[in-house]
Amino acid sequence: MGLNVEIRINIEEAARPEDLSAKEQQVISAAKNAAARAYAPYSKFHVGAALLLTSGELVTGNNQENAAYPDGLCAERVAMFAANANHPDSGIQLLAVTAMMNDEFLEEPVYPCGSCRQSLLESENRFQQPIRILMYGKNRIQIVNSVKDLLPLSFDASFLK
Ligand code: THU
Repeated sequence: MGLNVEIRINIEEAARPEDLSAKEQQVISAAKNAAARAYAPYSKFHVGAALLLTSGELVTGNNQENAAYPDGLCAERVAMFAANANHPDSGIQLLAVTAMMNDEFLEEPVYPCGSCRQSLLESENRFQQPIRILMYGKNRIQIVNSVKDLLPLSFDASFLK
């Protein structure tokens, strides 16, 4: 028998935004507003993301789809790339993400896809700033304190040296 390695992650849970700090509530609210502006005519799955940068700025994004399906982009990366393009010296301290279908927010939290996790990890490493991720659903908000919790055994620039 070989050695087994167990990886544990800590997921905080809050019942509603009011249980979180004022800043966190503001970021969740911005993500909800961003979801309503998504361009998702194909999936009809409207995702919103909001980032609080280390500079204090708030940047939002939402999913942008395309008739050529793979050319669309997720809300998290739209927000993160906009932040990096316009505020290249600021890391991300908080990210909130949520999704709506048929004009209703999902009851359970939505989780960033694998490609977004990889892109967000680049930001953590680039700015040496862990991102606290708030995943909002009507029933609960789940929170992790680093992208590394969502992407264990990750590939990063250290392999390229
Ligand atoms: N999507 C996001 O924007 N973020 C996620 O975390 C999950 C998926 C988008 C991509 C696509 O436009 C739609 O949701 C359905 O997959």
